[in-house]
Amino acid sequence: MVKDIPEVGTIRKILLVANWKMNKTQGEAQAFCEEFLPLVKEVDKIDIAICPPFTSLYILKQMLSDSLVKLGAQNMYAAEKGAYTGEISPLMLKDAGCTYVIIGHSERRQVLGESDEEINGKMLLALEAGLIPILCVGETLDERESNRAEEVVARQLEASLQGVKPEALVIAYEPVWAIGSGKNASTDDAGMMCSFIRTNIEKLLGAEAAAASQILYGGSVNESNLKDFLQVTDIDGALVGGASLAADSWLKLVRIGENV
Ligand code: PGA
Repeated sequence: MVKDIPEVGTIRKILLVANWKMNKTQGEAQAFCEEFLPLVKEVDKIDIAICPPFTSLYILKQMLSDSLVKLGAQNMYAAEKGAYTGEISPLMLKDAGCTYVIIGHSERRQVLGESDEEINGKMLLALEAGLIPILCVGETLDERESNRAEEVVARQLEASLQGVKPEALVIAYEPVWAIGSGKNASTDDAGMMCSFIRTNIEKLLGAEAAAASQILYGGSVNESNLKDFLQVTDIDGALVGGASLAADSWLKLVRIGENV
């Protein structure tokens, strides 16, 4: 029997994740929470998570202590502890109050040279530590234009999920060319890729895991396009960068998520 997996056919909850990237001091993170949290106290219809930089995890843990909003980190190292100067382990993230951790974001793959193999190591350790990894996959513009988007995403999934046991996962489909560019994918393209991702999870981890996994779209999500994405069958939420940085803009996205 698969752990923590609702029956096939169960409606998946919408998940909205704020990825603040390398933005906000602790004071700015606190000010955001003071404005945003009182307005979402009753929101339990959807899952909301905020992933601040490491330096603001502690302040957010305090601020979120009596809130349904969950805390997430943007990265981790694939070891429990040891001589890895500058790195942070999954156990430290658990201890810091994290529920989620983003793994394999394209900025880490592209700017910091993270490989599928490293991402697989992170997935295994995050799950072992009891964190929920948000695994990011997605093709570059060149890969899309040369009709290799599906091949790339399938390879990323297969490599990142080696050795992962069947369970409900969170996967974010983020086409690299749509991130921070103001050029979101069309709902048709995003929907097709998210269905393709679910089919691949089914192949790799079975039908129950596939049916229960939350598949998010990310890349220039904002208040004008979120509703359309959330109406697509295989899109269960969004990973949001720019539009999650201001409390009023993030609140608008939460309200859209609640009302879909
Ligand atoms: P964006 O970033 O919403 O600013 O495009 C999304 C992401 O990188 O997760």
